Amino acid sequence: MSDKATLEYNGNKYDFPVIKGTEDELAIDIKSLRTETGMITIDPGYKNTGSCESAITFLDGEKGILRYRGYSIEELAEKADFLEVAYLLIFGELPNETQLSKFHSDIKAQSLVDEDMRKIVDAFPKSAHPMGVIASLTSALTAFNPSSVNVTSEEDMYKAIVKILGKFPVLVAWTFRKKNGLPLDYGDKNLGYVENILKMMFKQPNEEYKTNPIVLNALDKLLILHADHEQNCSTSTVRIAGSSHVGLFASLSTGISALWGPLHGGANQAVLEMLEGINADGGDSKKYMAKAKDKDDPFRLMGFGHRVYKNFDPRAKIIKKAADEVLGDLGIKDPILEIAQILEKEALLDQYFVDRKLYPNVDFYSGIIYRALGIPTDMFTVMFALGRLPGWIAQWREMRLNGEPIGRPRQVYMGETSRPFVPVEKR
Ligand code: ACO
Repeated sequence: MSDKATLEYNGNKYDFPVIKGTEDELAIDIKSLRTETGMITIDPGYKNTGSCESAITFLDGEKGILRYRGYSIEELAEKADFLEVAYLLIFGELPNETQLSKFHSDIKAQSLVDEDMRKIVDAFPKSAHPMGVIASLTSALTAFNPSSVNVTSEEDMYKAIVKILGKFPVLVAWTFRKKNGLPLDYGDKNLGYVENILKMMFKQPNEEYKTNPIVLNALDKLLILHADHEQNCSTSTVRIAGSSHVGLFASLSTGISALWGPLHGGANQAVLEMLEGINADGGDSKKYMAKAKDKDDPFRLMGFGHRVYKNFDPRAKIIKKAADEVLGDLGIKDPILEIAQILEKEALLDQYFVDRKLYPNVDFYSGIIYRALGIPTDMFTVMFALGRLPGWIAQWREMRLNGEPIGRPRQVYMGETSRPFVPVEKR
Protein backbone atom coordinates (compact mmCIF):
# COMPACT_ATOMS: atom_id res chain seq x y z
CA MET A 1 0.00 0.00 0.00
CA SER A 2 1.33 3.39 -0.98
CA ASP A 3 1.97 6.00 1.70
CA LYS A 4 1.36 8.84 -0.72
CA ALA A 5 -1.40 9.97 -3.06
CA THR A 6 -0.61 11.75 -6.31
CA LEU A 7 -2.68 14.57 -7.73
CA GLU A 8 -2.21 15.39 -11.39
CA TYR A 9 -3.34 18.76 -12.68
CA ASN A 10 -2.37 20.67 -15.81
CA GLY A 11 0.49 18.25 -16.47
CA ASN A 12 2.01 18.69 -12.99
CA LYS A 13 2.12 15.94 -10.37
CA TYR A 14 1.92 16.59 -6.65
CA ASP A 15 2.45 14.01 -3.92
CA PHE A 16 0.60 14.12 -0.62
CA PRO A 17 1.19 11.86 2.37
CA VAL A 18 -1.44 9.25 3.22
CA ILE A 19 -1.99 8.77 6.92
CA LYS A 20 -3.52 5.72 8.53
CA GLY A 21 -5.61 5.73 11.70
CA THR A 22 -5.40 3.02 14.35
CA GLU A 23 -8.55 1.44 12.89
CA ASP A 24 -6.98 1.51 9.39
CA GLU A 25 -8.90 4.54 8.14
CA LEU A 26 -6.95 6.23 5.37
CA ALA A 27 -6.71 9.97 4.81
CA ILE A 28 -4.84 12.14 2.33
CA ASP A 29 -2.99 14.84 4.22
CA ILE A 30 -3.55 17.98 2.14
CA LYS A 31 -2.08 20.52 4.57
CA SER A 32 0.35 21.69 1.88
CA LEU A 33 -2.16 21.59 -1.01
CA ARG A 34 -2.71 25.32 -1.40
CA THR A 35 0.95 26.22 -0.93
CA GLU A 36 2.00 23.67 -3.53
CA THR A 37 -0.80 23.96 -6.08
CA GLY A 38 -2.64 27.23 -5.38
CA MET A 39 -5.86 25.20 -5.16
CA ILE A 40 -8.19 24.30 -2.33
CA THR A 41 -10.70 21.47 -1.97
CA ILE A 42 -14.44 21.96 -1.79
CA ASP A 43 -16.62 19.65 0.29
CA PRO A 44 -19.92 21.17 1.48
CA GLY A 45 -21.16 19.43 4.63
CA TYR A 46 -17.60 18.09 5.10
CA LYS A 47 -18.72 14.67 3.89
CA ASN A 48 -15.14 13.70 2.99
CA THR A 49 -13.16 16.01 5.20
CA GLY A 50 -11.40 15.04 8.41
CA SER A 51 -11.09 18.14 10.58
CA CYS A 52 -8.72 16.65 13.15
CA GLU A 53 -6.95 13.57 14.47
CA SER A 54 -8.83 12.33 17.51
CA ALA A 55 -8.38 9.51 20.02
CA ILE A 56 -11.78 9.77 21.69
CA THR A 57 -14.51 8.00 19.72
CA PHE A 58 -14.39 5.50 16.88
CA LEU A 59 -17.37 4.77 14.75
CA ASP A 60 -17.77 2.67 11.66
CA GLY A 61 -21.05 3.65 10.05
CA GLU A 62 -20.98 0.81 7.54
CA LYS A 63 -20.55 -1.86 10.22
CA GLY A 64 -22.59 -0.10 12.92
CA ILE A 65 -19.70 0.08 15.44
CA LEU A 66 -19.35 2.75 18.12
CA ARG A 67 -16.58 2.77 20.72
CA TYR A 68 -15.50 5.33 23.31
CA ARG A 69 -11.72 5.18 23.85
CA GLY A 70 -11.77 1.61 22.52
CA TYR A 71 -14.63 0.31 24.67
CA SER A 72 -17.78 -0.81 22.85
CA ILE A 73 -20.91 1.22 23.47
CA GLU A 74 -22.80 -1.99 24.20
CA GLU A 75 -20.40 -2.92 27.02
CA LEU A 76 -20.29 0.58 28.48
CA ALA A 77 -24.10 0.90 28.44
CA GLU A 78 -24.38 -2.39 30.28
CA LYS A 79 -21.52 -2.18 32.77
CA ALA A 80 -20.49 1.45 33.38
CA ASP A 81 -22.25 4.44 34.85
CA PHE A 82 -22.46 7.87 33.25
CA LEU A 83 -19.82 9.52 35.44
CA GLU A 84 -17.29 6.76 34.73
CA VAL A 85 -17.98 7.20 31.01
CA ALA A 86 -17.58 10.97 31.34
CA TYR A 87 -14.17 10.47 32.99
CA LEU A 88 -13.19 7.94 30.33
CA LEU A 89 -14.10 10.27 27.48
CA ILE A 90 -12.44 13.33 28.97
CA PHE A 91 -9.25 11.80 30.40
CA GLY A 92 -8.78 8.74 28.19
CA GLU A 93 -8.95 5.88 30.73
CA LEU A 94 -11.59 4.36 32.97
CA PRO A 95 -11.08 5.78 36.48
CA ASN A 96 -10.11 3.62 39.44
CA GLU A 97 -12.18 4.03 42.61
CA THR A 98 -9.99 6.83 44.03
CA GLN A 99 -9.96 8.77 40.77
CA LEU A 100 -13.71 8.41 40.36
CA SER A 101 -14.44 9.46 43.90
CA LYS A 102 -12.16 12.53 43.63
CA PHE A 103 -13.73 13.47 40.29
CA HIS A 104 -17.22 13.23 41.80
CA SER A 105 -16.24 15.24 44.93
CA ASP A 106 -14.65 17.96 42.78
CA ILE A 107 -17.84 18.15 40.70
CA LYS A 108 -20.06 18.24 43.77
CA ALA A 109 -17.93 21.04 45.23
CA GLN A 110 -18.88 23.11 42.17
CA SER A 111 -22.56 22.33 42.09
CA LEU A 112 -23.81 25.64 43.44
CA VAL A 113 -24.83 28.28 40.94
CA ASP A 114 -24.62 32.01 41.65
CA GLU A 115 -28.03 33.06 43.00
CA ASP A 116 -28.09 35.94 40.50
CA MET A 117 -28.39 33.35 37.74
CA ARG A 118 -31.94 32.77 39.03
CA LYS A 119 -32.82 36.28 37.90
CA ILE A 120 -31.89 35.27 34.35
CA VAL A 121 -33.94 32.08 34.64
CA ASP A 122 -36.87 34.12 35.95
CA ALA A 123 -36.61 36.57 33.07
CA PHE A 124 -37.45 33.91 30.48
CA PRO A 125 -41.12 33.48 29.61
CA LYS A 126 -42.56 30.06 30.43
CA SER A 127 -43.12 29.61 26.70
CA ALA A 128 -39.36 29.87 25.96
CA HIS A 129 -37.90 26.79 24.33
CA PRO A 130 -35.71 25.04 26.94
CA MET A 131 -32.84 24.74 24.44
CA GLY A 132 -32.77 28.52 24.02
CA VAL A 133 -32.80 28.88 27.80
CA ILE A 134 -30.03 26.37 28.48
CA ALA A 135 -27.78 27.75 25.71
CA SER A 136 -28.18 31.26 27.18
CA LEU A 137 -27.59 30.09 30.74
CA THR A 138 -24.45 28.21 29.73
CA SER A 139 -23.18 31.33 28.03
CA ALA A 140 -24.10 33.43 31.08
CA LEU A 141 -22.01 31.11 33.25
CA THR A 142 -18.95 32.55 31.53
CA ALA A 143 -19.88 35.98 32.84
CA PHE A 144 -20.34 34.61 36.35
CA ASN A 145 -17.04 32.69 36.20
CA PRO A 146 -14.57 35.00 34.45
CA SER A 147 -11.59 32.87 35.51
CA SER A 148 -12.81 30.08 33.23
CA VAL A 149 -12.44 32.22 30.11
CA ASN A 150 -8.67 32.26 29.64
CA VAL A 151 -7.75 28.65 30.11
CA THR A 152 -4.08 28.03 29.54
CA SER A 153 -2.93 25.18 31.79
CA GLU A 154 -4.31 21.67 32.30
CA GLU A 155 -5.10 22.70 35.86
CA ASP A 156 -7.30 25.59 34.62
CA MET A 157 -8.93 23.16 32.24
CA TYR A 158 -9.70 20.71 35.00
CA LYS A 159 -11.25 23.48 37.10
CA ALA A 160 -13.47 24.62 34.20
CA ILE A 161 -14.46 20.99 33.49
CA VAL A 162 -15.59 20.11 37.02
CA LYS A 163 -17.33 23.47 37.27
CA ILE A 164 -19.49 22.88 34.22
CA LEU A 165 -20.16 19.24 35.13
CA GLY A 166 -21.33 20.48 38.54
CA LYS A 167 -23.43 23.41 37.38
CA PHE A 168 -24.93 22.24 34.08
CA PRO A 169 -27.32 19.68 35.63
CA VAL A 170 -28.53 22.39 38.04
CA LEU A 171 -29.28 24.66 35.08
CA VAL A 172 -31.05 21.83 33.26
CA ALA A 173 -33.17 21.16 36.34
CA TRP A 174 -33.93 24.87 36.78
CA THR A 175 -34.97 25.14 33.12
CA PHE A 176 -37.34 22.20 33.62
CA ARG A 177 -38.71 23.42 36.96
CA LYS A 178 -39.28 26.96 35.78
CA LYS A 179 -41.31 25.62 32.87
CA ASN A 180 -43.35 23.52 35.24
CA GLY A 181 -43.87 26.29 37.80
CA LEU A 182 -41.83 24.47 40.47
CA PRO A 183 -39.47 26.20 42.92
CA LEU A 184 -35.84 26.18 41.83
CA ASP A 185 -33.85 23.84 43.96
CA TYR A 186 -30.38 22.42 44.48
CA GLY A 187 -29.71 18.74 44.60
CA ASP A 188 -28.37 16.47 47.25
CA LYS A 189 -24.62 15.94 47.54
CA ASN A 190 -25.17 12.48 49.00
CA LEU A 191 -26.63 11.12 45.79
CA GLY A 192 -24.95 9.74 42.72
CA TYR A 193 -24.50 12.12 39.77
CA VAL A 194 -27.48 10.91 37.72
CA GLU A 195 -29.69 10.18 40.73
CA ASN A 196 -29.13 13.77 41.83
CA ILE A 197 -30.20 15.03 38.40
CA LEU A 198 -33.47 13.13 38.70
CA LYS A 199 -34.07 14.50 42.17
CA MET A 200 -33.26 18.07 41.12
CA MET A 201 -35.75 17.76 38.27
CA PHE A 202 -38.61 15.86 39.82
CA LYS A 203 -38.63 16.54 43.56
CA GLN A 204 -41.95 18.06 44.60
CA PRO A 205 -41.68 20.74 47.30
CA ASN A 206 -44.18 19.00 49.57
CA GLU A 207 -42.97 15.42 49.50
CA GLU A 208 -39.86 13.32 49.87
CA TYR A 209 -38.21 12.22 46.64
CA LYS A 210 -37.77 8.48 46.15
CA THR A 211 -35.58 7.28 43.29
CA ASN A 212 -37.17 4.72 41.00
CA PRO A 213 -34.30 2.34 40.05
CA ILE A 214 -35.87 1.60 36.65
CA VAL A 215 -35.98 5.30 35.81
CA LEU A 216 -32.44 5.82 37.13
CA ASN A 217 -31.06 2.92 35.10
CA ALA A 218 -32.81 4.10 31.92
CA LEU A 219 -31.60 7.68 32.24
CA ASP A 220 -28.05 6.55 33.01
CA LYS A 221 -28.07 4.42 29.85
CA LEU A 222 -29.51 7.19 27.71
CA LEU A 223 -26.88 9.65 28.89
CA ILE A 224 -24.08 7.14 28.19
CA LEU A 225 -25.39 6.46 24.68
CA HIS A 226 -25.46 10.18 23.91
CA ALA A 227 -22.12 11.00 25.53
CA ASP A 228 -20.03 11.35 22.36
CA HIS A 229 -20.26 10.78 18.66
CA GLU A 230 -17.01 12.10 17.19
CA GLN A 231 -17.09 15.06 14.79
CA ASN A 232 -20.84 15.65 14.42
CA CYS A 233 -22.38 19.08 13.86
CA SER A 234 -22.47 20.27 17.50
CA THR A 235 -19.08 18.78 18.41
CA SER A 236 -17.42 20.34 15.39
CA THR A 237 -19.07 23.60 16.41
CA VAL A 238 -17.62 23.31 19.93
CA ARG A 239 -14.15 22.52 18.53
CA ILE A 240 -14.20 25.32 16.00
CA ALA A 241 -15.52 27.91 18.48
CA GLY A 242 -12.99 26.73 21.07
CA SER A 243 -10.18 26.94 18.51
CA SER A 244 -10.38 30.75 18.83
CA HIS A 245 -9.47 30.14 22.51
CA VAL A 246 -12.79 31.39 23.76
CA GLY A 247 -13.48 29.62 27.10
CA LEU A 248 -15.08 26.24 27.65
CA PHE A 249 -18.55 27.48 28.65
CA ALA A 250 -18.85 29.80 25.64
CA SER A 251 -17.71 26.97 23.34
CA LEU A 252 -20.30 24.64 24.89
CA SER A 253 -23.12 27.12 24.41
CA THR A 254 -22.37 27.18 20.66
CA GLY A 255 -22.58 23.38 20.65
CA ILE A 256 -25.92 23.47 22.46
CA SER A 257 -27.31 25.84 19.81
CA ALA A 258 -26.07 23.59 17.01
CA LEU A 259 -27.59 20.55 18.71
CA TRP A 260 -31.00 22.21 18.80
CA GLY A 261 -31.65 21.83 15.05
CA PRO A 262 -34.14 19.13 13.95
CA LEU A 263 -31.55 17.57 11.63
CA HIS A 264 -29.33 16.96 14.66
CA GLY A 265 -30.28 16.63 18.34
CA GLY A 266 -33.62 18.34 17.85
CA ALA A 267 -34.69 15.22 15.96
CA ASN A 268 -35.74 13.54 19.23
CA GLN A 269 -38.40 16.21 19.75
CA ALA A 270 -39.31 16.09 16.05
CA VAL A 271 -39.72 12.28 16.18
CA LEU A 272 -42.16 12.43 19.08
CA GLU A 273 -44.11 15.27 17.47
CA MET A 274 -44.25 13.29 14.24
CA LEU A 275 -45.48 10.15 16.03
CA GLU A 276 -48.08 12.18 17.94
CA GLY A 277 -49.20 13.76 14.65
CA ILE A 278 -49.58 10.35 13.00
CA ASN A 279 -51.50 9.08 16.01
CA ALA A 280 -53.83 12.11 15.97
CA ASP A 281 -54.36 11.59 12.24
CA GLY A 282 -55.70 8.07 12.81
CA GLY A 283 -52.40 6.17 13.03
CA ASP A 284 -52.13 5.48 9.29
CA SER A 285 -48.39 4.69 9.02
CA LYS A 286 -48.63 3.87 5.28
CA LYS A 287 -49.81 7.40 4.50
CA TYR A 288 -46.72 8.83 6.20
CA MET A 289 -44.38 6.32 4.59
CA ALA A 290 -45.69 7.51 1.22
CA LYS A 291 -45.19 11.15 2.21
CA ALA A 292 -41.60 10.44 3.28
CA LYS A 293 -40.85 8.93 -0.14
CA ASP A 294 -42.58 11.66 -2.14
CA LYS A 295 -39.93 14.05 -3.44
CA ASP A 296 -42.53 16.84 -3.75
CA ASP A 297 -43.40 16.53 -0.08
CA PRO A 298 -40.93 18.04 2.43
CA PHE A 299 -41.96 15.45 5.06
CA ARG A 300 -39.13 13.17 6.21
CA LEU A 301 -39.40 10.20 8.50
CA MET A 302 -37.76 11.80 11.52
CA GLY A 303 -35.42 9.48 13.43
CA PHE A 304 -34.45 7.70 10.22
CA GLY A 305 -31.22 8.12 8.33
CA HIS A 306 -27.82 9.29 9.47
CA ARG A 307 -24.89 11.01 7.84
CA VAL A 308 -22.45 8.31 8.87
CA TYR A 309 -24.50 5.22 9.79
CA LYS A 310 -25.42 3.29 6.69
CA ASN A 311 -26.39 0.39 8.91
CA PHE A 312 -28.28 0.12 12.21
CA ASP A 313 -27.23 2.86 14.60
CA PRO A 314 -25.87 0.64 17.45
CA ARG A 315 -27.31 3.10 19.97
CA ALA A 316 -30.80 2.68 18.48
CA LYS A 317 -30.67 -1.07 19.15
CA ILE A 318 -29.81 -0.54 22.83
CA ILE A 319 -32.39 2.22 23.22
CA LYS A 320 -35.13 0.17 21.58
CA LYS A 321 -34.52 -2.62 24.10
CA ALA A 322 -34.40 -0.10 26.96
CA ALA A 323 -37.69 1.48 25.77
CA ASP A 324 -39.39 -1.92 25.82
CA GLU A 325 -38.03 -2.58 29.33
CA VAL A 326 -38.93 0.83 30.76
CA LEU A 327 -42.46 0.79 29.40
CA GLY A 328 -42.90 -2.81 30.54
CA ASP A 329 -41.48 -2.19 34.02
CA LEU A 330 -43.45 1.00 34.54
CA GLY A 331 -46.57 -0.67 33.16
CA ILE A 332 -47.09 1.99 30.49
CA LYS A 333 -49.01 1.19 27.30
CA ASP A 334 -48.14 3.85 24.79
CA PRO A 335 -49.86 4.00 21.36
CA ILE A 336 -46.93 6.12 20.20
CA LEU A 337 -44.57 3.17 20.77
CA GLU A 338 -46.83 0.96 18.69
CA ILE A 339 -46.77 3.44 15.79
CA ALA A 340 -42.99 3.67 16.10
CA GLN A 341 -42.69 -0.14 15.92
CA ILE A 342 -44.93 -0.35 12.85
CA LEU A 343 -43.08 2.48 11.08
CA GLU A 344 -39.74 0.86 11.83
CA LYS A 345 -40.89 -2.50 10.49
CA GLU A 346 -42.33 -0.97 7.32
CA ALA A 347 -39.33 1.26 6.64
CA LEU A 348 -36.81 -1.55 7.08
CA LEU A 349 -38.62 -3.56 4.38
CA ASP A 350 -39.31 -0.65 2.03
CA GLN A 351 -37.17 -0.43 -1.10
CA TYR A 352 -36.78 3.39 -0.83
CA PHE A 353 -35.29 3.09 2.66
CA VAL A 354 -33.30 -0.07 1.81
CA ASP A 355 -31.73 1.55 -1.29
CA ARG A 356 -30.71 4.66 0.65
CA LYS A 357 -29.55 2.65 3.68
CA LEU A 358 -31.89 4.58 5.98
CA TYR A 359 -32.07 2.91 9.39
CA PRO A 360 -33.53 4.14 12.69
CA ASN A 361 -31.09 6.43 14.48
CA VAL A 362 -30.57 7.09 18.20
CA ASP A 363 -33.43 9.56 18.30
CA PHE A 364 -36.10 7.23 16.99
CA TYR A 365 -36.66 5.59 20.38
CA SER A 366 -35.07 7.95 22.91
CA GLY A 367 -38.12 10.25 23.00
CA ILE A 368 -40.36 7.36 23.91
CA ILE A 369 -38.25 6.68 26.99
CA TYR A 370 -38.04 10.35 27.95
CA ARG A 371 -41.82 10.53 27.67
CA ALA A 372 -42.19 7.47 29.88
CA LEU A 373 -39.86 9.11 32.43
CA GLY A 374 -42.17 12.15 32.58
CA ILE A 375 -39.93 14.51 30.62
CA PRO A 376 -41.86 16.91 28.35
CA THR A 377 -41.18 16.81 24.61
CA ASP A 378 -39.46 20.19 24.38
CA MET A 379 -36.97 19.09 27.08
CA PHE A 380 -35.78 16.07 25.06
CA THR A 381 -32.95 17.89 23.31
CA VAL A 382 -31.84 19.39 26.63
CA MET A 383 -31.52 15.83 27.96
CA PHE A 384 -29.43 15.03 24.90
CA ALA A 385 -27.20 18.02 25.70
CA LEU A 386 -26.82 16.75 29.26
CA GLY A 387 -25.60 13.43 27.91
CA ARG A 388 -23.37 15.01 25.25
CA LEU A 389 -21.67 17.35 27.74
CA PRO A 390 -18.70 15.03 28.52
CA GLY A 391 -18.15 14.41 24.81
CA TRP A 392 -18.06 18.11 23.98
CA ILE A 393 -15.71 18.69 26.93
CA ALA A 394 -13.42 15.82 25.87
CA GLN A 395 -13.28 17.11 22.29
CA TRP A 396 -12.62 20.68 23.38
CA ARG A 397 -9.86 19.53 25.76
CA GLU A 398 -8.25 17.37 23.08
CA MET A 399 -8.36 20.24 20.60
CA ARG A 400 -6.66 22.58 23.08
CA LEU A 401 -4.06 20.03 24.22
CA ASN A 402 -3.22 19.17 20.60
CA GLY A 403 -2.63 22.88 19.97
CA GLU A 404 -4.91 22.84 16.95
CA PRO A 405 -4.90 26.01 14.84
CA ILE A 406 -7.94 28.26 14.68
CA GLY A 407 -10.63 26.70 12.48
CA ARG A 408 -11.06 28.76 9.38
CA PRO A 409 -12.30 27.04 6.22
CA ARG A 410 -11.91 28.63 2.82
CA GLN A 411 -14.50 29.06 0.09
CA VAL A 412 -14.83 29.19 -3.66
CA TYR A 413 -16.17 32.66 -4.40
CA MET A 414 -19.02 32.61 -6.95
CA GLY A 415 -20.31 36.17 -6.56
CA GLU A 416 -20.01 39.35 -8.65
CA THR A 417 -16.55 40.36 -9.73
CA SER A 418 -15.30 43.89 -9.11
CA ARG A 419 -17.80 46.60 -10.14
CA PRO A 420 -18.13 50.34 -9.54
CA PHE A 421 -20.46 51.70 -6.87
CA VAL A 422 -23.72 53.19 -8.20
CA PRO A 423 -25.30 56.04 -6.18
CA VAL A 424 -28.80 55.32 -4.90
CA GLU A 425 -30.56 57.78 -7.26
CA LYS A 426 -29.01 56.04 -10.26
CA ARG A 427 -29.98 52.44 -9.37
N1 ACO B 1 -36.94 10.30 5.38
C1 ACO B 1 -37.06 10.20 4.03
N2 ACO B 1 -36.01 10.28 3.17
C2 ACO B 1 -34.78 10.48 3.69
C3 ACO B 1 -34.58 10.59 5.08
C4 ACO B 1 -35.70 10.48 5.94
N3 ACO B 1 -35.57 10.58 7.26
N4 ACO B 1 -33.26 10.78 5.32
C5 ACO B 1 -32.67 10.79 4.13
N5 ACO B 1 -33.57 10.61 3.14
C6 ACO B 1 -33.30 10.50 1.70
C7 ACO B 1 -33.03 11.85 1.07
O1 ACO B 1 -34.22 12.45 0.58
C8 ACO B 1 -32.05 11.48 -0.01
O2 ACO B 1 -32.79 10.90 -1.07
P1 ACO B 1 -32.27 11.08 -2.62
O3 ACO B 1 -30.91 10.44 -2.65
O4 ACO B 1 -33.31 10.38 -3.41
O5 ACO B 1 -32.23 12.58 -2.85
C9 ACO B 1 -31.20 10.37 0.60
O6 ACO B 1 -32.08 9.76 1.58
C10 ACO B 1 -29.93 10.85 1.30
O7 ACO B 1 -30.30 11.84 2.25
P2 ACO B 1 -29.40 13.10 2.62
O8 ACO B 1 -30.27 14.16 3.21
O9 ACO B 1 -28.57 13.47 1.44
O10 ACO B 1 -28.45 12.48 3.72
P3 ACO B 1 -27.56 13.29 4.73
O11 ACO B 1 -26.47 12.40 5.15
O12 ACO B 1 -27.20 14.64 4.19
O13 ACO B 1 -28.57 13.58 5.96
C11 ACO B 1 -29.85 13.26 7.92
C12 ACO B 1 -28.64 12.80 7.10
C13 ACO B 1 -29.84 14.80 8.07
C14 ACO B 1 -29.78 12.67 9.32
C15 ACO B 1 -31.14 12.81 7.19
O14 ACO B 1 -31.15 11.41 7.06
C16 ACO B 1 -32.43 13.29 7.90
O15 ACO B 1 -32.87 14.41 7.64
N6 ACO B 1 -33.01 12.44 8.79
C17 ACO B 1 -34.17 12.85 9.56
C18 ACO B 1 -33.72 13.73 10.73
C19 ACO B 1 -33.04 12.94 11.81
O16 ACO B 1 -33.51 11.89 12.26
N7 ACO B 1 -31.92 13.49 12.32
C20 ACO B 1 -31.19 12.90 13.46
C21 ACO B 1 -29.84 12.41 13.04
S1 ACO B 1 -29.07 11.62 14.42
C22 ACO B 1 -28.46 12.86 15.34
O17 ACO B 1 -28.12 13.93 14.91
C23 ACO B 1 -28.32 12.61 16.76
